[in-house]
Amino acid sequence: MNATLNASRPPDDAVIELIQVSTRFGEHVVHRDVTLAVRRAEVFAIIGGSGSGKSTLLREMILLQRPSAGTLRVLGVDLANITDDDALALRRRWGVMFQHGGLFGALTVLENVGLPLREHTALGDGLIDEIAAWKLALAGLKPEVGAQYPSELSGGMMKRASLARALALDPELLFLDEPTAGLDPDSAAGVDELVLKLRDLFGLTIVMITHDLDLLWQVADRVAVLGDGTVQGIGSMAQLSHMDRPAIRPFFHGPRARAALAQNDAIQQVRPVPVPDLDPALTGEASSKPK
Ligand SMILES: Nc1ncnc2c1ncn2[C@@H]1O[C@H](COP(=O)(O)OP(=O)(O)O)[C@@H](O)[C@H]1O
Ligand SMILES: [Mg+2]
Repeated sequence: MNATLNASRPPDDAVIELIQVSTRFGEHVVHRDVTLAVRRAEVFAIIGGSGSGKSTLLREMILLQRPSAGTLRVLGVDLANITDDDALALRRRWGVMFQHGGLFGALTVLENVGLPLREHTALGDGLIDEIAAWKLALAGLKPEVGAQYPSELSGGMMKRASLARALALDPELLFLDEPTAGLDPDSAAGVDELVLKLRDLFGLTIVMITHDLDLLWQVADRVAVLGDGTVQGIGSMAQLSHMDRPAIRPFFHGPRARAALAQNDAIQQVRPVPVPDLDPALTGEASSKPK
């Protein structure tokens, strides 16, 4: 353990640790002293206004971008001076579902899902197709979708195909960028269930960026609110709803927020969950994971 990190030691089950991460683009400071920890087998959401640095933070976690300062560890590996070999090994252990799917238009869905297996394993074509078909089923797609091309899919199917590809290498960690954006309510509800299934069946740790209040209330175990370059609060939605900060309030007021809140209240009445104590520590370290 690094003795200089005593300011906020993350919990031992941390899968991702950010310690005083700062990001600048020229004069523009996007993050300053972002400190947070994502725990094993939790669904961790990052929210914040447009331009608050959510996508940049995600890109830093998946080695697409480097912070200007601070410590960033993923699956126990410090990303600061990572070698190419270690980066490759790490990329095999996580899956990423990009906001716009990121599927290759010239490949069928099955070929897209099998691509990470072709790149990272020495498995034969037959086995790769079998694994890809299983991942499609896991993501809730019918077998015949495998033969289709991305342009033939609906928005919801595209998200599911992209998720199937993110799951190809049996990742321990899954990153989702706006998994329900642009979906109709039924498809979005399907994604909610899928995310919970992945956490509960496979113990996956899931980090997602989302504006979807239903997804936040029903799926996220903990949520970090980014604003003004830093973490404005971390906790369950219930905990955050009691925090009176300008950067947090918009997620709990206004018609859409109230509708999501009301729906959540209705669910709580069927299956009551105690509202945990407020967690004033911005790192959220002190609180236990609501189950
Ligand atoms: N590669 C880059 N070069 C310069 N500025 C960038 C770059 N990437 C992001 N930014 C800036 O960083 C800020 C945060 O961007 P982003 O992380 O995409 O926000 P969010 O996802 O929360 O909407 C924005 O002001 C954006 O313009
Ligand atoms: Mg973004």
